[in-house]
Amino acid sequence: MSLIEVRGLKKYYKVGSNIIKALDGIDLNIERGDFVALLGTSGSGKSTLLNMLAGLERPTKGTIKYGKVDLTKLSEEEITKFRNLNIGFVFQSYNLLPQLTARENVALPLTFKGIPKDDRKKEAYRILKQVGLSDRVNNKPSELSGGQQQRVSIARAFVGTPSIIFADEPTGNLDTKTSFEIMSLIKSITTANNETFIMVTHDEEMTEFADKTLFMRDGKLEKVHEKLTIDEVLEK
Ligand SMILES: Nc1ncnc2c1ncn2[C@@H]1O[C@H](COP(=O)(O)OP(=O)(O)OP(=O)(O)O)[C@@H](O)[C@H]1O
Ligand SMILES: [Mg+2]
Repeated sequence: MSLIEVRGLKKYYKVGSNIIKALDGIDLNIERGDFVALLGTSGSGKSTLLNMLAGLERPTKGTIKYGKVDLTKLSEEEITKFRNLNIGFVFQSYNLLPQLTARENVALPLTFKGIPKDDRKKEAYRILKQVGLSDRVNNKPSELSGGQQQRVSIARAFVGTPSIIFADEPTGNLDTKTSFEIMSLIKSITTANNETFIMVTHDEEMTEFADKTLFMRDGKLEKVHEKLTIDEVLEK
C-alpha cells in the first residue's frame, strides 16, 4: 500500500467573478521512503499541492489518503493532531520564532508531543549538532546567517523523527554551495531514518537528489520522472 494516495484533487479559488483552478485534478501515489521533487513554473500549483498534502489547507474536491485515513474527512483538531505526530514542515522563509533561541525553536514541536522538558532539550541539542550548529544553540534567529537559520528550521522539521517531511523551496533563499550542502544534509537524514521527503523547488539542479520528480503545469501533473534503481539499471 502506498504511503499517500491522492485521487481527483482539486482546489478552486473564487476571486471576484473568476474561478482560479490552483489544482485541477491530481492523481498521485507516494511511497514510504520516497524523495520527491515538485517542479513547475510560478503559479502552477506546487505550494497549493504541498499544503494540501500536509493538511495545512483543505481541497475543494478529492481525497488524500494516508493508509486508511482520509485527511479531507478529518476535523481541524484531528488534522492538527495528525500533523503533530507525523509531519515536519520546512518553509522557504524559515518561520522561526524570533524571541526563541535555536534550541528552543527546535524543541518546540516536541512540546506538542508531550515530551518532558529535559528530554526536549537533549533531543534538540542532538539534532542541532547533526546539522552542524552545536555552537549556535543559544543564538536567536536574528543572530544567525540565512543558511544557519535554514539549518535550524530543518532541525525543527526533523526533530522527533516525523515519518514525512514537506519542504517548500527549502533552498530558495540560499546560494548554490549552501543549497547543495543543505540538500545533502536532508538526504542523509531522510535516508538514515527511512523518512519520506517531498519538496517544492524552482531549481532543476536540486532534482538530482530526488528519486521522483513531479512536473506541474496549470494545476495538473504534466509528467512524473522516476530515477531508475540500481536493479533496474542492471536489468536494462
Ligand atoms: N488564497 C488564494 N486565493 C486565490 N488564488 C490563489 C490563492 N492561493 C493561490 N492562488 C492561485 O493559485 C495558483 C497556484 O498557486 P501556488 O501558490 O500553488 O503556485 P506555485 O506553483 O507554488 O507558485 P510559486 O512558484 O510562485 O510559489 C496561482 O495562480 C495563485 O495565484
Ligand atoms: Mg509556491
